[in-house]
Amino acid sequence: MPALDLINVSKIFGSVKAVDRLNLQVEQGECFSFLGPSGCGKTTTLRMIAGFENLDEGELYCDGKLFSSSYKRFYLPPEKRDFGMVFQAFAVWPHMTVYDNVAFPLHLKRLQKQEIKERTEMALKATSLTKEAEMFPQKLSGGQQQRIALARAVAINPKVMLLDEPLSNLDPHLREEMRFEIKELQTRFGFTVIYVTHDQSEAMALSDRMLVMKEGVVQQIDNPLKIYDNPANKFVFSFIGLSDFIPVEVKDGKVFVKDAEDCGPVNGQIPPEYDPSISYDIACRPGEIDFSPTGVKATVVRRTYLGDIVDYLLRIGSVDIRVQKPRRRSLATVGETCHLKFNRLLWYDHSEETASKT
Ligand SMILES: Nc1ncnc2c1ncn2[C@@H]1O[C@H](COP(=O)(O)OP(=O)(O)OP(=O)(O)O)[C@@H](O)[C@H]1O
Ligand SMILES: [Mg+2]
Repeated sequence: MPALDLINVSKIFGSVKAVDRLNLQVEQGECFSFLGPSGCGKTTTLRMIAGFENLDEGELYCDGKLFSSSYKRFYLPPEKRDFGMVFQAFAVWPHMTVYDNVAFPLHLKRLQKQEIKERTEMALKATSLTKEAEMFPQKLSGGQQQRIALARAVAINPKVMLLDEPLSNLDPHLREEMRFEIKELQTRFGFTVIYVTHDQSEAMALSDRMLVMKEGVVQQIDNPLKIYDNPANKFVFSFIGLSDFIPVEVKDGKVFVKDAEDCGPVNGQIPPEYDPSISYDIACRPGEIDFSPTGVKATVVRRTYLGDIVDYLLRIGSVDIRVQKPRRRSLATVGETCHLKFNRLLWYDHSEETASKT
């Protein structure tokens, strides 16, 4: 039985369809991410699961038990759903110590004193906050404050943990560290996690499976590698990882970059489903392009060192693309002409939208 089952779930705000007929099953103990650009409906979906929003259409089951139904006009209030939750902004109470911040929801649940003590101490230990228990949140770093919110959710001992951009206020280094801590907590306690983020590397690192959304509509549900390697469409390709799109035209069975015929043909096969009435972009990851003795001609416009990786901006005719190569293999200098070989090219309709990354 799935931990969560969303059937044909929609939410409408005025003229905005924030979530459009979402069907999703999340398995027990799974770490599942919602991914997509700002405003695509991630938080709205999470709020419907948590019970803060009613469904305009559809049904939601948790462990086979009905939690919300638009058809039956049924709605279980949030406090009866027993989910652990951490939301976008830090939600710590500044006038309470770290200990009381974690224990407070357990008091609300009217648990026995001894149980409150045990659960609070366990959650503080699990999030490395035991030493800070008697301190007030303002005295703590951003990462420690974020851990209070996590500890509070862990103390409830939920079967399902709902996390909405729980690391969005942290610097990149702490974010990375906390991401592993969340994963470790999940493995240790075995809860099901719904993790909302618009950071694709975070989603890829944490998730067993993820869902990519655009304007309330699911684009793809799969494991991170499948989504990266076999994106369902141009939007998903452009949202996950870095991407290059190059407008092309086919002449005499060869592929040329548009308006750059003197740069020579592009290597690679024309796909069997090629339709001459459509304008195409070829798409590639910057790491999947090699400098080579032959191949399409390009000029190096910019070269940037990103630690171990060298990032090139290259121009083919009037099209700019990014290429990334390990530093020890970097060859080209600014102004130089080079030739490129493309590995793993995908073909997309030029008029199809890409994701504007947030
Ligand atoms: N209470 C509300 N009233 C009216 N419109 C809303 C409300 N909540 C959300 N929306 C709209 O619904 C859409 C989805 O919003 P949502 O907050 O779910 O996006 P999100 O994917 O979480 O974005 P972000 O990454 O910026 O947090 C947006 O167009 C938003 O403006
Ligand atoms: Mg949001």
